[in-house]
Amino acid sequence: MCGIVAYIGQQEAYPILIEGLKRLEYRGYDSAGVALLNENNELNVYKAKGKVSDLEAFASSKDVSGHIGIAHTRWATHGEPNQVNAHPHVSQSGNIALIHNGIIENYLSIRKELEKRGFTFKSSTDTEVLTNLIEDVQQSEHVDLFEAVRIALNHVVGAYAIVVLEKGHPDQLIAARKGSPMVIGIGDGEYFIASDATPIVGRTQKVVYLEDEQVVKIKLGEELHIKTIQDVEAMPYVQELKMNLDSIEKAGFDHFMMKEIYEQPTIVRDTMRGRLNPEANTVRLGGIQQYEKQLLYADNIVFVACGTSWHACLVGSYLIENLAKIPVKVEYASEFRYRNPVITPHDVVIAVSQSGETADTLAAIQLAKEKGAVVLGICNVIGSSISRATDAGIYTHAGPEIGVASTKAFTSQVTVMVMLALRLAELKGSMKDEERAAFIQELDRIPEKMQWTLDHSGHVKDIAEKYKDVRNMLYLGRLQNYPVALEGALKLKEISYIHAEGYPAAEMKHGPIALIDKDMPVVFIATNHSTYEKVISNIQEVKARNGKIIAIISQKDVLARKMADYVIEIPETECLYSPLLALAYHIAVMRGCNVDQPRNLAKSVTVE
Ligand code: AGP
Ligand code: GLU
Repeated sequence: MCGIVAYIGQQEAYPILIEGLKRLEYRGYDSAGVALLNENNELNVYKAKGKVSDLEAFASSKDVSGHIGIAHTRWATHGEPNQVNAHPHVSQSGNIALIHNGIIENYLSIRKELEKRGFTFKSSTDTEVLTNLIEDVQQSEHVDLFEAVRIALNHVVGAYAIVVLEKGHPDQLIAARKGSPMVIGIGDGEYFIASDATPIVGRTQKVVYLEDEQVVKIKLGEELHIKTIQDVEAMPYVQELKMNLDSIEKAGFDHFMMKEIYEQPTIVRDTMRGRLNPEANTVRLGGIQQYEKQLLYADNIVFVACGTSWHACLVGSYLIENLAKIPVKVEYASEFRYRNPVITPHDVVIAVSQSGETADTLAAIQLAKEKGAVVLGICNVIGSSISRATDAGIYTHAGPEIGVASTKAFTSQVTVMVMLALRLAELKGSMKDEERAAFIQELDRIPEKMQWTLDHSGHVKDIAEKYKDVRNMLYLGRLQNYPVALEGALKLKEISYIHAEGYPAAEMKHGPIALIDKDMPVVFIATNHSTYEKVISNIQEVKARNGKIIAIISQKDVLARKMADYVIEIPETECLYSPLLALAYHIAVMRGCNVDQPRNLAKSVTVE
């Protein structure tokens, strides 16, 4: 979902900006642009529809000199993806250049006002309106750019992360954010600004995460000067960047997605580190410790999330109700925020998000807080908006997930769900000690079982070869394998563009069974658990209609193994969903799809 990068310092800005945009490509975009101020105070702006490489080609013969610049990858919300609508946008006088992530909701009314005051517009974007609004304030109020940006943002409704450059001021950038993320890297005599830390990794370890409704003057030779848009001085909170360079490289894999699939055993270990104690058979979740009572005695625990994170919440709901006997609801954040849900101060709302920037989930948090609920977060990105908007939370520690299709983040979210259910069960006394201990011991063995599964998934490629040209697939599972079926179907959809649906296995009889024929492969998650025999019956129902069956089975399975056309074995345990990831990945690669940046998708959906 779009990205901003800016630089000011002693180095040539252009190479740093382009490298930064490339590191943000995973967020999804449709066009890109850069603005540079050179030594002769010339403002050079280059923009191109398409990829960053298209921008580079366009700028290759141009003057790209200068020690200060701003750059942008756009995910269009107002105005089609094209060169004119791409950012940076330049004000009418030609003195101000601006890049923007987010949406200015009231841009039309502002545009009409500005047109009355003699402004004209080249693009159909909301961003160009903001650019000219700032110029109008600067000219009419006779203030400097820092003050003009602050005043202008008081007239704006919506979300923004902006960086503004002004001719005649080669030593200064102005930035501000509300609802869209922004991080500032503090180097030695230089500053970096970006949507997230990936463009900053390897350049500096000192970062400041700008807060909502803060505006900052970044001037060489001076400390950051931060104010709220209400003109209240704010101190920069300098943190140390935890990410390192190799964590955002492909490490020899063809795609980030495959790298992240293979990172899962390590990630699960990292997620459990310092929390799961297999010696003492305990789980401790320090981040939410002070809210354990509210969780224990909540009328409802209400999960709010989107996409893959919503699937992880569904797994969590099964586990928490089954083990801790606490009522759980799972809500799509985009529905929750508008359907006027019944939420009281006796509920605990938990927002789950890999990026921590998903607009619908942020809005759901806001609504839950307005209704008096405790709001907790389960996020992967440290310092993200959701992690800072919630009362407390649990970081999943999955590391940067670059592939747009979520893999290791889902695994780490599910790991947190298991630990949360076990901790609540311990506090509630709803599980026998020996039962809980067995669960904890099994959880401790999951990383090596995942590794075994990955090491024995080579033949998944053969299955992918067989099914790479199908037009539809059905994924079926029961209990907590049902959300895994949903997630498997989502993976296939989003990276191979094959239509796929996940369903509770028994529900297939209530309609989808009409779809079954030799051209509709069905993936069954048939691992050993309480409803195994029922799943076997469902497999028989599909076989009787000449359906083709791929079954995820436990190593010791006999029945499903005989009935399926293809099997993928996993060690005895609850389902590990890696086989579903591998299947979707190989099919997508064979279909020549862009696995890491699927069409139309964004890594973080920061707009509605
Ligand atoms: C997952 O593969 C998708 N990219 C998407 O569904 C994602 O899970 C969803 O947009 C939620 O993102 P979040 O976890 O960052 O909030
Ligand atoms: N709303 C702006 C536009 O459509 C910015 C979109 C983005 O965040 O990339 O140009």
